[in-house]
Amino acid sequence: MPGFSLAGCALGVASAATQIEGGELDTNWHRWAASGGAPDGSSPARAADHWNRVGIDNALLAELGVRHYRLGIEWARVEPSPGQFDDAAIEHYRAELAGLREAGVRPLVTLHHFNLPGWLVDAGGWLGTDATDSFLRFVRRMVTALGDEVDEWIPINEPNVYATYGYLFGLWPPGDRSYRRTIAVLQTLAAAHIAAFQLIHELQPGARVGTAIHLRVFAPADRRNPIHQLGAKASDHLFQRAPLRAMSTGRFPLPLRRPSWVRPGRYYDFQGINYYTRSTVRGLADGVAENVDVNDLGWEIHPEGLAEVSGWVHAAYPGPIYITENGTADAADAFRARFLHDHLAVVAASELPIERYYHWCFTDNWEWAEGEVPRFGLVELDYETQERSVRESARFYADVIANSGVTADAYAHWVTGQEYPTNAPSEDRPT
Ligand code: FCB
Repeated sequence: MPGFSLAGCALGVASAATQIEGGELDTNWHRWAASGGAPDGSSPARAADHWNRVGIDNALLAELGVRHYRLGIEWARVEPSPGQFDDAAIEHYRAELAGLREAGVRPLVTLHHFNLPGWLVDAGGWLGTDATDSFLRFVRRMVTALGDEVDEWIPINEPNVYATYGYLFGLWPPGDRSYRRTIAVLQTLAAAHIAAFQLIHELQPGARVGTAIHLRVFAPADRRNPIHQLGAKASDHLFQRAPLRAMSTGRFPLPLRRPSWVRPGRYYDFQGINYYTRSTVRGLADGVAENVDVNDLGWEIHPEGLAEVSGWVHAAYPGPIYITENGTADAADAFRARFLHDHLAVVAASELPIERYYHWCFTDNWEWAEGEVPRFGLVELDYETQERSVRESARFYADVIANSGVTADAYAHWVTGQEYPTNAPSEDRPT
């Protein structure tokens, strides 16, 4: 009989400032969008207009019974010029957090989620000499200003995605394609995580500070092909194992190099895993296998991978695990309930201390280089009117939250009958 308990794992939703807040700001992403970066011509200036609709969104969280919310801070708002903090913007975040507290929602705050103020872009971004000091100034101010409302922090979201998309593949700002600079940025971000971890604990000894790293399963396209095997191993090491080891332990595996001030230690209170997909590797290029389940963006849906990545993370870095992101692009809401069910089933079956699961995303949001097209939200957004509509998958998730698990009734109501799309060539598809 379908159904399982999730006692022991608190369920929440996630978002990121640049993807939902809206507003004409000077950030790396606003600049990039203004120069035609997103193929659909969209910009984070619109997004979900969350900045002006915090009350509506907090009420929606409460309506769905959500008790845990991962949200971000837009650095450019609170520090519009170097060292000059905007008290009104900080006050706005304080009010948002107070609203969450009143609604019984516990926040987990991300400080850097791919977003830089324009003045830091001008100073070289994360390659600039003052980047880490600037970041720590911002972290200090946020923890001091918000510390009575928040005690769980993620200093840096997905340093591996930020470094590779922005500096290796040239897909994200600053659009660079340099192996050397990719490694330099990864190193700097890992060290900045460690410095922020230490600073937050100094300011708030009881805080919980963790990672939020994007982890994939890298599978060789052909297990007997040594080139594919080597490619999978190299991707796994460079993209995820090396940066996670650096951030978590202060030991920097090659090709990363440890800055001299970093001492080996334990630099996480929880391991935050963002898990979406499996990559199928042929040599240096990764891709998607054929004849597999896929979402609207063509990403393979591979729920068992969540067990695999959590397993190796926990073996290397024992302690609590938070699934800080997991979700899918599904505009028709045709398979999101099944996606949720299948990934939560992996959590339920796991012996590991998976204490949290945050579904990405609460509402539809501005999806970086993909713009407004992909629909990751439990709540549907009409970008023109900014109207929010609760999707059926959100009703399912609300039921899972209320029951701390999936009941047989909920399975029958929301999941039965949902099937994933596949990327099988059309002639292979059953008629
Ligand atoms: C992750 C990002 C998040 C969102 C999802 C779909 O890599 O952290 O902001 O874009 O992917």
